[in-house]
Amino acid sequence: MSRLAILGGHPVRTRPFSPWPRYLPADAERLQKVLESRHWGGFPLPGKYAGEFAERFAEMHGARYGLCVANGTIALVTALQAAGVRFGDEVIVPAYTWDGTATAVLFAGGVPVFADVDPDTYCLDVDAAHKAITRRTTAIIPVHLAMRFTDMDALAELAHKHKLKIIEDCAHAHGGQYKGRGAGSIGDIGCFSFQESKLMAAGEGGFALTSDLGYFEAMQSVTNCGRASLTDQYGRRMIGSNYRMTEFQAALLIGQFEMLPELAALRSRHAALLTEALATLKGIRPLPKQPAVTRDTIYHYIFQYRPADKRVSRDLFVAALEKEGIPCDGRFYEPVYKSDLFYATPDNSPQLRIGREETMRYDMVRCPVAERAAYEEAVWLPQFLLIGEEADVHDVHAAIKKVLDNLDELAQADPSLAGVKAMGRAQRARFERQKNY
Ligand SMILES: Cc1ncc(COP(=O)(O)O)c(C=O)c1O
Repeated sequence: MSRLAILGGHPVRTRPFSPWPRYLPADAERLQKVLESRHWGGFPLPGKYAGEFAERFAEMHGARYGLCVANGTIALVTALQAAGVRFGDEVIVPAYTWDGTATAVLFAGGVPVFADVDPDTYCLDVDAAHKAITRRTTAIIPVHLAMRFTDMDALAELAHKHKLKIIEDCAHAHGGQYKGRGAGSIGDIGCFSFQESKLMAAGEGGFALTSDLGYFEAMQSVTNCGRASLTDQYGRRMIGSNYRMTEFQAALLIGQFEMLPELAALRSRHAALLTEALATLKGIRPLPKQPAVTRDTIYHYIFQYRPADKRVSRDLFVAALEKEGIPCDGRFYEPVYKSDLFYATPDNSPQLRIGREETMRYDMVRCPVAERAAYEEAVWLPQFLLIGEEADVHDVHAAIKKVLDNLDELAQADPSLAGVKAMGRAQRARFERQKNY
């Protein structure tokens, strides 16, 4: 048995994986055109490329209207405002997600209420969401996480019964389909991010889609400093800001759009190969198939670390896997209420106290499935491991097998080897900065 790289052995993989994000020669031409047009911003709304992209992206997901915005967090804020969330309204969000899902609710004046996630998909558990509903609840934000969807049929039924709005956070779900319906088009409004790591990237960028003209007009108004939208059939006047996307971002997105189908098919094929290979290994569990997903969207490939012998923590397992040359993460997300990036207090977010019988206390929240995923179980592999050659998939499998075969030896090792992998994000960012400078 070869020695683990973390203990001084030779790593399985020494070559880099596919670079990300990708671009086309035509992107450079489009960027040059924007430059020379001297029309770089997003006003008047929409810009040329932003308008073209918005139409095509909304249509691809089966929605009537779409709007490019500055980033994914702002897309959520805009959607919440358009959906009528007001100061003090409660909005249910999954505990296991990027902090921005919850901070967007705070920015819109709402109170995020965390509900646990499903153990097989890590997406919002609809029963947990049901239990979290109070008379203040006005909306729910399901997050289609990494490679899976929230059970949207059950959620839609729940929302209908309690007259709640659904805003889908599709930051990981570009091009995905749930039972033949496009991500984001199932609820009232769907929001996307084009931040650099995402399945379609523009450096930064965001998107909101809907089939409801009233929401669309309101979102244009919020995004465009409160100006009326071009159609203005509903005459809603919104407090707005400048959330517009630049033409440089939009120009990059046109090329991303062209690349998506081929890359998505490759991810899907390689993910299936990986699942087949991982299913034979003891101590880990690929996420079970979700038949409701009729078109894959794989932002990260997640599997579960479940060894019979618990001496080696997930963080140490992940640290060992990374040393074998496989980019991976364990603490990709923490339960947001425990995250060191979620600083919500009644001082900075008065809606947590004002008008409530009891101040919202995030230190009292417990979501056991999210905590297990975040600290013990989930292993996240970035999508770019799946867009190269088939040999990449074999290397990923070989490295995981190697670490699992050597768990005994790893159990004897110094647990501090997990070091950086076990840090929270703020702490890790500080550490990385120190390393770089
Ligand atoms: C689930 C989720 N929601 C929201 C966001 C926010 O997107 P952005 O970073 O573009 O503001 C992200 C991206 O980081 C995300 O992963």
